Amino acid sequence: MTSTILVTGGAGYIGSHTCVELLNAGYDVVVIDNLSNSSPEALKRVEAITNKNVSFIEGDVRNRKLLKKVFAEHSIAAAIHFAGLKAVGESCQMPLAYYDNNLNSTLALCQEMEAAGVKNLVFSSSATVYGDPETLPLTEDLPLSATNPYGRSKLIIEEMLRDLPEADTLNKAEKPWAVILLRYFNPVGAHESGTIGEDPKDTPNNLMPYITQVAVGRREKLSVFGSDYDTVDGTGVRDYIHVVDLAKGHVCAVNNLLGNLSGKSPITGVEAINLGTGNGISVLELVNAFSTINDVPVPHELVARRPGDVAACYANADKASELLDWSTELDVDAMVKDSWHWQKTNPKGYGQ
Ligand code: NAD
Ligand code: WQD
Repeated sequence: MTSTILVTGGAGYIGSHTCVELLNAGYDVVVIDNLSNSSPEALKRVEAITNKNVSFIEGDVRNRKLLKKVFAEHSIAAAIHFAGLKAVGESCQMPLAYYDNNLNSTLALCQEMEAAGVKNLVFSSSATVYGDPETLPLTEDLPLSATNPYGRSKLIIEEMLRDLPEADTLNKAEKPWAVILLRYFNPVGAHESGTIGEDPKDTPNNLMPYITQVAVGRREKLSVFGSDYDTVDGTGVRDYIHVVDLAKGHVCAVNNLLGNLSGKSPITGVEAINLGTGNGISVLELVNAFSTINDVPVPHELVARRPGDVAACYANADKASELLDWSTELDVDAMVKDSWHWQKTNPKGYGQ
């Protein structure tokens, strides 16, 4: 029998790519998204890529009545919770909106999941929970901290979710919670079809969409934030991961929770797992790879460091391999090629 996965925020960047991989893996998908940072066109294109239907409910995950209806009308086996606000700078200006959206959506979702007896959850966490790392590569057992309200919202949610299995033990719950906290490193790239990709509504905060918008002529030049870090060439080092690899990591997580990963026992309780490549590359290395592979110039200038940035951040991805049988397949060449393919064929994103 086909299992149905509830995907909150499924019209967004990572959510839409994950819907493709879930559908390709044979799951049915129900999406709830309020379209605050996405377009319904993304889901139409997911359907075109997969030749399958997505059940789309436009609405807010904080709306418990709506969630109740969704759980009553669909037999959900597991939920993936992408919905949330994600811009670090904005979170410093409007912390309450971030705590409201990110915390209350997770609370409402878990309350309605518990009421419906659905206790398999994959949560979108972030490498930001490692704060300013003292040792690299980052393993899941390192101390956690937050440097901004966005990161703090992820940290609070991780802690909140950790309380659920303890309550199961106290309550001798028949069906205990099984929660996978996926800590993403830096997602980039797009589906190889070039029909879905990252489409920031305002000026991009992240590096790759800024690069592609410069390359396509929407912006004059890229500012490279900081050239005096203690790194290979002085610019910041990150673990960029292709969004399709990331999406497949979610399918592996769901497979694990539903007992569909052969040779791996299903995770019980709460488990944090990094999704990264394990390799760090610098801003200039990424910019140069983009220009060379795509044969397109990316005008850039070196400017001062961006406040709050760390010099380097990359994953130890061993746990994902051990528990989820997952590792990345796509390299930096594929990341820059697919990012450019998406931007070039959709110069204005979904808004053309
Ligand atoms: P995105 O903004 O493209 O997707 C989020 C989606 O959630 C959007 O479609 C938005 O409309 C929807 N949404 C927001 N609040 C909602 C609500 N209350 N109810 C219903 N829908 C709502 O972002 P993304 O890059 O796809 O990120 C997905 C998740 O992954 C987020 O939780 C984010 O914090 C996390 N994450 C992202 C990154 C990254 O760099 N992109 C890194 C680490 C973690
Ligand atoms: C990458 C590198 C910048 C833009 C953020 C969040 C993190 C996670 C992923 C959600 C850094 C440099 C950037 C530019 C630049 N999101 N840069 N010029 O900061 O690693 O992580 O997104 O969870 O929480 O903090 O990603 O893409 O912003 O920056 O030089 O115009 O690119 O300084 O070295 P970051 P990023």
